Amino acid sequence: MRKDYISDTSIDDSESGFIERFWTDNWKNTGGVENRLNRYISSFDRFALKSEWRLLRKYISPTSHHRLLDGGCGTGEWCRHLNNQGYSVTGVDISRETIEKLQELFPDDAFQAGDIRNMNFPDESFDGYFSWGTFEHFEAGLQPCISEAYRVLKPGGYLFMTVPFDSFGLSFAQIFKTPSQTSARNSKRFYQWRLSRQELATELTLGGLDVVKLQPIHRRQTIVRMLHHGFGLDYNGRFARYTGLVLGSILPRGLCGHMLMAVARKPILDKS
Ligand SMILES: C[S@@+](CC[C@H](N)C(=O)[O-])C[C@H]1O[C@@H](n2cnc3c(N)ncnc32)[C@H](O)[C@@H]1O
Repeated sequence: MRKDYISDTSIDDSESGFIERFWTDNWKNTGGVENRLNRYISSFDRFALKSEWRLLRKYISPTSHHRLLDGGCGTGEWCRHLNNQGYSVTGVDISRETIEKLQELFPDDAFQAGDIRNMNFPDESFDGYFSWGTFEHFEAGLQPCISEAYRVLKPGGYLFMTVPFDSFGLSFAQIFKTPSQTSARNSKRFYQWRLSRQELATELTLGGLDVVKLQPIHRRQTIVRMLHHGFGLDYNGRFARYTGLVLGSILPRGLCGHMLMAVARKPILDKS
């Protein structure tokens, strides 16, 4: 497992405090809850293009897996989308300010401030649990998140999750970096873990879950990021977008996927 670091000058708050502050600011700086949600209310279905949605819907339906948990729900797009699809979703996030805003806007929905490593739901509460880009944020590793996911899932329930992918392309690029670019410096603090397929499979298995599928996703975003960071091109510029679209659909997933998605299942244990 590889560690990513982030520059942060105010390194005196706790890990949880930093994560809450970082994401609260991130959601505010990228438009706030209302604007971010509004982007999804448009004439075409943005979720239809999302790799996470295309994979998730193969395994569950509102009749077979009705009660879902979104661990690290951010500004709530996924909760709203899946509620509209006929599921009943509870969204949990460590950012209290973001959750308060969601509760104010959607009093009939289930949004709750909390830490996904220690939630207040009874055992076996959910038919499915999805979490995008959240389990990797703690330096102690993924196990506290995975064991809590195991606890709240019903037997036979699915865990869908994404973590940053330690792809072949990234490992290759790392060879050309100087040690100061790859190791932590004083002004940097731990940001996230990056995992290979084998490492994520091991983590899930250690947590008692059966691995159903592992798939690198977000190839297009990787190309756009490379063009932005390497050549200073605008993220939203036409050239970056079209190059990302073309290269992202032809290059192998293992080379340039940015995130790694896992589908895992809590086994149904024979009690006889
Ligand atoms: C990468 S964002 C993903 C947001 C959303 N799931 C999405 O796909 O747009 C990670 C989110 O997880 C939340 N988070 C991080 N650690 C958490 C924890 N221990 N418990 C609950 N939420 C957490 C952050 O506040 C942030 O909103």
